[in-house]
Amino acid sequence: MYKKESFPRGFATVRSFQRSKMGKCYPVVSEEYKKAVEKAKKKLRGFISEKNCAPIMLRLAWHSAGTFDVKTKTGGPFGTMKHAAELDHGANNGLDIAVRLLEPIKEQFPILSYADFYQLAGVVAVEVTGGPEVPFHPGRQDKPEPPPEGRLPDATKGSDHLRDVFVKQMGLSDKDIVALSGAHTLGRCHKERSGFEGPWTANPLIFDNSYFKELLGGEKEGLLQLPSDKALLADPSFRPLVEKYAAEEDAFFEDYAEAHLKLSELGFADA
Ligand code: HEM
Repeated sequence: MYKKESFPRGFATVRSFQRSKMGKCYPVVSEEYKKAVEKAKKKLRGFISEKNCAPIMLRLAWHSAGTFDVKTKTGGPFGTMKHAAELDHGANNGLDIAVRLLEPIKEQFPILSYADFYQLAGVVAVEVTGGPEVPFHPGRQDKPEPPPEGRLPDATKGSDHLRDVFVKQMGLSDKDIVALSGAHTLGRCHKERSGFEGPWTANPLIFDNSYFKELLGGEKEGLLQLPSDKALLADPSFRPLVEKYAAEEDAFFEDYAEAHLKLSELGFADA
């Protein structure tokens, strides 16, 4: 439980929480804080669309959240990516660009935590590229210390590793793994950042279900599939979901929005 004095400006005091249907217990933020979230959301919509930087913004939000460890309740979407120590983690190569791009907008909203701001950028990235609306609840507080290195998934590994990271470490499900992997509908790999090169789909600035269609269609000239993407085809629990999402975009959007919401709130507002 937080002590009253540990809440930064804009956050409610210890007694003010609102319980959601999902059993989450969200802190109540001030009207001033809510207004700043809405205004920042508008600014982010314009900025991310204009700069075509939705993919790296989504990767920033995901790498911020994906360090959560359910056993120790450490890591997670709490604004630590702004620290050089976390940006220096091998998995985060290139994310300094996203942090730098966001800084002039963040400066306009000193009331907002970095934790909320980075997750808001991830939600907006999905929205402005045509993806589902992911609900956003404010009130995350910035943690002072980055998590240890080595908690994000390794693209050269298969389904056992994906479950170790997403299920055992983060506390998510098989369905979340497949739905969230569909985020590779956006963006591409950069040789100098990850060692891999190329996009997953022919339209990497559009959020749709083409990642799953391409995955089922096999290797294609100019497109890429990571070993961790291909693992979704080989696994008997993952594959039916790949087939479902390739056939029904609405089903993908629904499950993606739910999984993204969970990812963005790991360790936040848990009862
Ligand atoms: C399942 C395990 C995952 C692995 C092993 C993985 C691995 C990778 C790798 C190697 C890159 C290339 C980075 C670069 O060279 O710039 C990448 C990019 C990306 N990843 Fe993932 N990823 C995973 C899951 C996710 C999830 C859960 C999301 C979001 C919900 C996501 C969103 C993205 C996006 C949007 C990009 C493109 C970034 C850009 O174009 O700059 N990934 N991922």
